This record gives sequence, structure tokens and C-alpha cells, in this order.
Amino acid sequence: MPMMMLGVLLIVFSVAPQLASPFAQVSSIPAAPAASKTRHTWTSPTKQIFIEDTDAYGVIYNANYARCYERALSHVPREEELGGDEMILSSVEAQKYSGSPPLGGQYVIRGERLEASTNKEVWSVELTSPPVKDTPTMVHNSAQVTLSRGQPLKVVEVTSPTQAEGVHCQYKLIAYKDELDTCIPCDGVSQQEEKAEYYVSVRSAMCYFERARSTFLGGPDMLRKLQEEENLLYVVTSNSDCHVYFDTILVEGGIEGELEMKLRPGDEVTVQTMFSVRRRGMIVDCRHRLYLGDGPRRLLAKATITIMALNGTTRRPTSKLPQWLVDKFTA
Ligand SMILES: *[C@@H]1O[C@H](CO)[C@@H](O)[C@H](O)[C@H]1NC(C)=O
Repeated sequence: MPMMMLGVLLIVFSVAPQLASPFAQVSSIPAAPAASKTRHTWTSPTKQIFIEDTDAYGVIYNANYARCYERALSHVPREEELGGDEMILSSVEAQKYSGSPPLGGQYVIRGERLEASTNKEVWSVELTSPPVKDTPTMVHNSAQVTLSRGQPLKVVEVTSPTQAEGVHCQYKLIAYKDELDTCIPCDGVSQQEEKAEYYVSVRSAMCYFERARSTFLGGPDMLRKLQEEENLLYVVTSNSDCHVYFDTILVEGGIEGELEMKLRPGDEVTVQTMFSVRRRGMIVDCRHRLYLGDGPRRLLAKATITIMALNGTTRRPTSKLPQWLVDKFTA
């Protein structure tokens, strides 16, 4: 759902800059911590939007910004011997979706490194229009992202937060090989001897979450019907805390055999989602968690994605929703 409709947000931005408040703050970037020696600003080479980057509306698909950031930051000059390509995007937080360059359009990633150590970098990043003299820069997307180097696998027990809150929907999926990435854990000494581990990338996790939200609402047919009969669109406006766990096995409810908890291509994974509704359904926070197997045991990824209902005619936020839709989120 939300996915396909980012184009709408773009339109909103170019023709109606006086938009209501939820949008006004969309391009702000989280404040940086106090200056440190590791601070570093950087702008990527100009990139172009290809068909593979877009959704049905010809704008960047919501999960693909993560890929843009990870690719761009792999080119940052680094002193260490281990190249930047070994750094894995492990979280995308405070991500604001303001719009998108169109298919064929160009963009750059601007980043400010807020923290850096051998195994971890934190960046404040923006996907913007390329710098053109005398033209204001347009910020399409912004986030705080973390790059990490895989460490030797460790098992950590965590308490499950999902039980008390109630799960609205649960979907099982197959994690296919092309949806998984691999990482060679690196303890700083014996990189070659370590075996690669599979993990779910931020992008794949966000695709699974997108699929779960859309399926919950009734799939593409229902989204089309919402648009045609109710004049409603849902768009993704933010992603507050997407984390993937690739060197830490977070286990809920008791540690069992570590081997069984390794992710492999073809494994079944489960997406659990809890919805909280604000402004009578105009804003829906979707808290997603991705597990290996069929229940809370090994946590692979999580994210809170916020979607917003827009009036199809005015492209403005609306809370004039059919009751069945509000009931669906709150039941
Ligand atoms: C959309 O906006 C139009 C024009 O203001 C209004 O007539 C209609 O009721 C609105 N629909 C929704 C679902 O907000």
C-alpha cells in the first residue's frame, strides 16, 4: 500500500508547500551530538533512479532508500585496511519520507559522520537533489543510519515485548536466497577463517514488513478499491527504528540450540505486526518484528513504520475514513 504512493507525497511537496503540520517537519534531520574528532561530512557522486529502484508510481520504493544509503556510504574514503564494503547497514532510524526524485531523476547522498570506531559508524544522511547553482536543494529523504562490521556470533536473551501488547497480524514467508545477504564475522584478526552467516538486510526486512501491511489491508485489490471507491491513499511518512540483527542472536523466551537459530535460505520467517492508530486512523504506527521460524524466538529485524491516509483529490492528510477501515486497525 503505502509503498506505491510516495509519488503522491512528491506532488504534495511541489504544489502545496503550505501543507499541514505532519509534513512540515518531515525534512528535519536529527540533531547531531557534540562535535568530535570523528565528524566528517561527505557527498556521494550523483546517482540516477532506475526502474529497479521504483514502485508502481515511478518513485523510489520505500525500502530502497536503505539501499541507496548503504551503497553510497560504502564509497566513503576510510583509512582502515578493511574496506567500506565490509560495513553492513544495521539500522535506519528517524527516517523521514518527504518525496522522491522521479524515475530517471538524479540524486546525491549527503552524510555527516557522527560517530566512528573500527566496528561501527553512525551517520546522519539525506537523499537530496544534486547541487545546482542558485537552485535550492530538495531533501527527499533523511535518516540516521548505523554501519557495523559483523562480529563473531553471540546469543543474547531478551524478553518478548509482544505478548502483552497483542499482535494484530502474523504472516509467514519464505526467506529466499536472493532476499538474504551474507556477512563474514570479523574479530579483527582471523577474518578468513570465519564462515559467512546469512542475515536479512534492512531493505529485505522493510520489504517483508511492507508485504505484511499490504496483505493485512487486503492486498493490491483492496488498496485499489480504497483509492477508487473511498478516494483514499496511504503513504509511508516515517520509519523510526529499523534494526537488523546479523551478529547477535536475540532470543526471546529461553536459549535453545544456537545452530537451530541460524538463518538459511529457504527458511520460514514470520512477520508480526501491531498497529496503533492516531487521529482517527489518519496516522497508523505499524510496529513490525521479523522472526526466524514461526514465533518469538530468534528476532531477525524490527521496525516501526508510520503510514498516513491522504485524500486522493486534495492529497492532504484526512481522517475521513470508512469505519470498517478504522475497525480493522483497532480490532
Ligand atoms: C477529499 O476532499 C474533497 C474535497 O475537499 C472532499 O469533498 C472529500 O470528502 C474528501 N474525502 C476524503 C476521504 O477525505
